[in-house]
Amino acid sequence: MDTSKIEVRYSELAESTCCLSCGGAANHSNPQEGEICVDLGSGRGTDVLRMAEKTGSGGVAVGIDVSDGMIAKAEKQAKKLGKTNVRFVKSELESLPLADNYADLVISNCTINHAEDKQAVWNEIYRILVPGGRFVVSDICSTAPVPEQYRNDPEAVAECWAGSVTKEEYLGQLKRAGFINITVIEESAPYPKGSIEVSSWTIKGYKKSCCCSG
Ligand SMILES: C[S@@+](CC[C@H](N)C(=O)[O-])C[C@H]1O[C@@H](n2cnc3c(N)ncnc32)[C@H](O)[C@@H]1O
Repeated sequence: MDTSKIEVRYSELAESTCCLSCGGAANHSNPQEGEICVDLGSGRGTDVLRMAEKTGSGGVAVGIDVSDGMIAKAEKQAKKLGKTNVRFVKSELESLPLADNYADLVISNCTINHAEDKQAVWNEIYRILVPGGRFVVSDICSTAPVPEQYRNDPEAVAECWAGSVTKEEYLGQLKRAGFINITVIEESAPYPKGSIEVSSWTIKGYKKSCCCSG
C-alpha cells in the first residue's frame, strides 16, 4: 500500500496539539498487571504509555505506526518519562512484525479506517492475540458506502474519512477474522466528515479461547 500521504500528514501532526482520537478505546481496555498490550496506529504514544503504567514492569506495551514523525515523538515521550516497558515499531497494520499468540490486548484509535486491506488487519489482530485475548477499537464507519472517487483518493483517506466502511461491512470483517462476543461500547450519532457522513464507535471482541472448539 502507498502510505506516503499518511506518513506526511501524520508526521506533520506529530507536533500539533490537535486530538486525533475518535473514541475511548484505551479507557475501555482495562489493561492488567503483567499483560502484553499493543496499540495499532499509536501516534504520539499517549495510549501506549497509559497502558504501560497499568501493566507495570512485568508487562509491556507496544505501539505500531507507519509514520516516522509519530514514532520519533512517541519514543521521545517515553524517554522523557523514563518508561522502559514500552516499544515503538514502524510498520503497516496489514502485516504486523509480532509473533502469533503474542498479545493479551490490542487497542486502536482512529486508525484502521486508513488501511487499504482492512480484512488483512483484522486477520492480523486475530493472529497476534492469545486465545481468549481481546481487542478494543475506536474507529469511524460510514453511513453509506463511500463513493469510489473518494475511496481511491489517498489524500481523502489520509484525512480520516474516505477509507471508512459501513457498520455492516465492518462487523462482517470482524466475524470473518474469527472474533466472538463482539459488542458496541459507544457509538455517536452520524455527523458530516469530508464529503460523507460517518459515526464514531468503540467496539470490543475476543479471540476464541480454544482453537479446537470450532
Ligand atoms: C488519527 S491518528 C490516531 C493516533 C492515535 N491512535 C490517537 O488516538 O491519538 C492515526 C495514526 O495511525 C497511523 N496510521 C495510519 N495508517 C496506518 C497504517 N496503514 N499502518 C500503520 N499506521 C497507520 C498514522 O501515522 C497516525 O499516527
